[in-house]
This record gives sequence, C-alpha cells and structure tokens, in this order.
Amino acid sequence: MFDIHLHGVGLAYGDHWVFKQLDLTLKGGQWTCLLGGSGVGKTTLLRMVAGLTGNGRVRTAGRILGGDDQPLHGRIAWMAQQDSLLPWATVLDNITIGERLRTISIFRRTRVNQQALVRARAILERVGLADKADSLPQHLSGGQRQRVALARTLFEDRPVVLMDEPFGALDAITRLNLQDLACELLQDKTVLLITHDPLEALRLGHEVYHLRGQPALLTDAIVPSGTTPRALNDGRLMALQGVLLDRLRCEEAAA
Ligand SMILES: Nc1ncnc2c1ncn2[C@@H]1O[C@H](COP(=O)(O)OP(=O)(O)OP(=O)(O)O)[C@@H](O)[C@H]1O
Ligand SMILES: [Mg+2]
Repeated sequence: MFDIHLHGVGLAYGDHWVFKQLDLTLKGGQWTCLLGGSGVGKTTLLRMVAGLTGNGRVRTAGRILGGDDQPLHGRIAWMAQQDSLLPWATVLDNITIGERLRTISIFRRTRVNQQALVRARAILERVGLADKADSLPQHLSGGQRQRVALARTLFEDRPVVLMDEPFGALDAITRLNLQDLACELLQDKTVLLITHDPLEALRLGHEVYHLRGQPALLTDAIVPSGTTPRALNDGRLMALQGVLLDRLRCEEAAA
C-alpha cells in the first residue's frame, strides 16, 4: 500500500490562508486521525487531499502525491458526517449509486450488473444489514444509516478512504460499535479520519495529529501503541486522552 505525501500544502479563501506550508505523510494501510477546533480547516484539508478545492477565490499551494507516483484521482472514497443517503432509493440502490452514476446512459435506464449486486449484498451482510437491502433509508435508525454509508464506502473499494466526522451524530454505544466495524472492514486501506472525539482518534489511529492556529499548523503526531481498535480499559489510552484534551482545551482558551 502506498503512502500519500503532502508537501508545503496551503489553501486560502481570498486573502485568508486557512493553512500554509503543511507537511504530512499518510502512511499506507494505516489510519491517520486529525483533531482540531471548529473552523480550523480540517474539512478543507480533507477536500484538498480529495482534489476538491473548488475555484474562484481559492488559492492553493504545495503538492499532494501518491508514494507510488500515480495520481490519486479515482483512488479515493469519501465518507462524510451526514450519511447523504437518497431517501427515495433502497439501501441496495444507495450502496451501488456510484457504479450506477459511472455507467449512466441517457438512452436507457441504468441497471447495475449482477456481479456488482452480488458484491453489494455481500458487503451488506458484513455490516449486518442483509435483511435491509430493500428498505428505504427513512425506515432505518441513525446507526443503521451510518452502516449503509460505510457499506457504500466499502463498495467503492478504493485504497484511500477519507472520513469527515463519520460517527459524530451517533450515541456512544452505536459509535463504539461502528468504530470497531470500520476498523475491521477498512483494515488494509489508507484512512484519514477527522474527528472531534479524542478517544475515537486514539482507539483507531496509528498516528493522531492536532491541527491548530491561524493559519493552521499540525502538532507532532501522537503514536499510540498496540493494535486497533484499542481497548477502552487500556490505561495508556486514558493517559493520552488526558494529554489530547488538555491540548484541545488550551487551543479553545487561546481562541
Ligand atoms: N467555501 C468557502 N469560502 C470561504 N471560506 C470558507 C469556505 N469553506 C470554509 N471556509 C472557511 O475556512 C475555514 C475552515 O473551514 P473548515 O470547514 O475546513 O473547518 P473545520 O475544521 O472542518 O470545522 P468543523 O470542525 O466545524 O467542521 C473556516 O474559517 C471557514 O469559515
Ligand atoms: Mg469540518
């Protein structure tokens, strides 16, 4: 699995540099977690990695490269905080929406091929929703909807997965369960996860960064030991959580 290198990366909306001169390596096959106060630039950085910088008054600097020298375009899946499920489409149709859009034809109604459907059903099984394939999103709980969003991300089968607060809106237990599931199912992917939850970052991350300041900078990585997802009763995890919470609180006080 290839690394992703960010060299001297910056982005400005008009004259306002959200971040400048950022260097970061997302290690191949590992989870990098990013924390930081609201408005510091986490989503903007994620969008930049995805190549979604927009245009008009946006200025960018630096380079983002795959360690294998191949373009990142077409190798990234995105999982956002809102599940963005289409309310009129079944769970199965939502999972296969990317495939459907890529093969769309103006002359005929697009059907996903049988092979893709079999794969989608297998993924649904893995996220524990095999019996919901024909349900509409409105008939699912928040946790189930997020599992469908995870299934849609898995269906895309890209080596790089960018996740923007994907479990933020869930209750504590559902969140823990989904963290474990995502950790298992995205094991071999290169993941960049944005979260406001220090414990989530420390349970799942191989490296945990804090984005802070204006223009924003990355602090040194925290590298928790042990395999992921880390156990909640791990004393070292709790100690690191204290360190991270202190850092985040200092940032808030300084703002
Ligand atoms: N399209 C835009 N035009 C102008 N400014 C923008 C635009 N998008 C974001 N910003 C500004 O850039 C800064 C960073 O926004 P961003 O959404 O990246 O923050 P964030 O760290 O993801 O915050 P949150 O934790 O609340 O999601 C903010 O000050 C925001 O107002
Ligand atoms: Mg954001």
